[in-house]
Amino acid sequence: MCGIVGYVGSQDAIDVVIEGLRRLEYRGYDSAGVAIVDPAGGMRTERRAGALSNLDKQLAEGSRIAGNVGIGHTRWATHGAPTDRNAHPHVDCSGAVAVVHNGIIENFAALRERLESAGHEFASDTDTEVVAHLLEVEIGSTDTDLAAAMRAVCSQLVGAFTLVAVHRDRPGVVVAARRSSPLVVGVGDGEMFLASDVAAFIAHTREAVALGQDQVVEIRSDGYTVTDLQGGTTDGQPFHVDWNLAAAEKGGHDFFMQKEIEEQPTAVADTLRGHLVDGRIVLDETRLAEQDLREIDKVFVVACGTAFHSGLIAKYAIEHWTRVPVEVEIASEFRYRDPVLDRDTLVVAVSQSGETADTLEAVRHAREQRARVLSICNTNGAQIPRESDAVLYTRSGPEVAVASTKCFLTQVTAGYLLGLALAQVQGKKYEDEVAADFAALEAMPRLIAQTLSTMDPVRALARELAGSETILFLGRHVGYPVALEGALKLKELSYMHAEGFPAGELKHGPIALIDDGMPVVVVVPDPGARGVLHDKVLSNLAEVRARGARTIVIATAGDERVRRLADHLIEVPSTPTLYAPLVTTVPLQVFAAAVADARGYDVDKPRNLAKSVTVE
Ligand code: F6R
Repeated sequence: MCGIVGYVGSQDAIDVVIEGLRRLEYRGYDSAGVAIVDPAGGMRTERRAGALSNLDKQLAEGSRIAGNVGIGHTRWATHGAPTDRNAHPHVDCSGAVAVVHNGIIENFAALRERLESAGHEFASDTDTEVVAHLLEVEIGSTDTDLAAAMRAVCSQLVGAFTLVAVHRDRPGVVVAARRSSPLVVGVGDGEMFLASDVAAFIAHTREAVALGQDQVVEIRSDGYTVTDLQGGTTDGQPFHVDWNLAAAEKGGHDFFMQKEIEEQPTAVADTLRGHLVDGRIVLDETRLAEQDLREIDKVFVVACGTAFHSGLIAKYAIEHWTRVPVEVEIASEFRYRDPVLDRDTLVVAVSQSGETADTLEAVRHAREQRARVLSICNTNGAQIPRESDAVLYTRSGPEVAVASTKCFLTQVTAGYLLGLALAQVQGKKYEDEVAADFAALEAMPRLIAQTLSTMDPVRALARELAGSETILFLGRHVGYPVALEGALKLKELSYMHAEGFPAGELKHGPIALIDDGMPVVVVVPDPGARGVLHDKVLSNLAEVRARGARTIVIATAGDERVRRLADHLIEVPSTPTLYAPLVTTVPLQVFAAAVADARGYDVDKPRNLAKSVTVE
């Protein structure tokens, strides 16, 4: 949600900033802008509504912008429509300060009123612009440095923000601040970077520094200084980025989502690696004693969107293996209904970005109620893992496409690891049982790869069905969250109406929707699945087919009984019941991307969305 870049060094800032914005465009693409400080004097600001390519075009038409210091922004609009005038950077009355911002300044209306009555003139409808004017006030006619002014301004702000500013008359520095929004420093040789995400500067350096809450950083070409809001010098958290530029590029694929779907076997294998040590499942980070986990008597999984669907799958595994009850909640609903939490409750926050505001607030609420918090996250050093008692990292590498794919599979994988860890620590599984379940999980990357190698007919079917008005998705047991995920992927990418239902629920109402020829995707469990699961789904399949549905069936290869009920059969390898989502989701991801592509939409950047949602 909004991408931010800052640079000080010896390269042309405009090139570094635009390249950084290109890598952050997944965070928002409503508008883009830059401000470059020219050491010879002056500052130039350019901004444009729409995708970064619009700004690129505008820059190509004008004279080249000189300067080695600059900031840039790609926006996902919150306050103010996505127009030229609301595009960042925003400047003060004199045009000396330029600011870019990610987040929401909740008290901006009161601040704006105060500034306007003091004579400041506003040129946009954004909350951000107050910061430019507040910096102008703090700097005044004195020689206050930009970092000191930023500290004074941040003390007046309520809300979540990453702010990055430059000043025309202080040419060698860029200053930034953060509260509950992401900001990392990139440490180069004679050059320094600031960004919402390391992807922005990975082409230049893999050495980074994560900043804490309410910290202000000043970068210069020779280094950086971090202070708290009182001006005391403090430290950031240095880390090495363990993926490289190639991971952040399309690598010959038409779009990032396609590449990320293909990366799933590796991502799942990487997520499992090193988690079984001397017969015990280990977490990546924990400040919890074994005793704390032993005493857990209730689990809540909180998450949004696709991550929520991974939580629904985790419920089946955790409850089955531990007999501890699990509730799965949409994070934005969690705290408002006052859930019953105590020290023996484990709240599991699942988030790819680790910065989703709804999930972060659910974590904070859980901690206030003294519950234990474990997060499943793909971003090292993000706010959610920082505020958790324990962390399991999904090792997917950067996920650039807005629609989550490989992170979904790795979140599902991490959910299994958590289930096994809890079962083990609570004495519900012996070491050899855990080892067997873990070995079966380790076989999954090969089965995912096998599934991926058979996707051409799925793409062809997607092209055939691209003109449909509605597609329904049905599943039972772990197939139900898979159906929800299939429907979400299709909606968000192709803007086609889609719904996921528990297969058995259809007859209680939604079956009325079935019309002659309506495509219905049915996720069928493995015939070896426990109990009568397979038979029941086959009955549901027969029910929709009898009413004219065109059935698209995802089933285990060799499942002969399903064949006569399928208008289109998509076969996946046989797996243990609980692990089936790791293969059955794959065709649905491929299908959604191919439908969107056939309809002519940008698969990586669906309309109205942003990768990381840092507002509630
Ligand atoms: C859908 C999608 C979103 C995210 C959701 C949570 O494809 O990507 O539904 O899953 O916004 O994001 P994270 O995992 O970053 O908390």
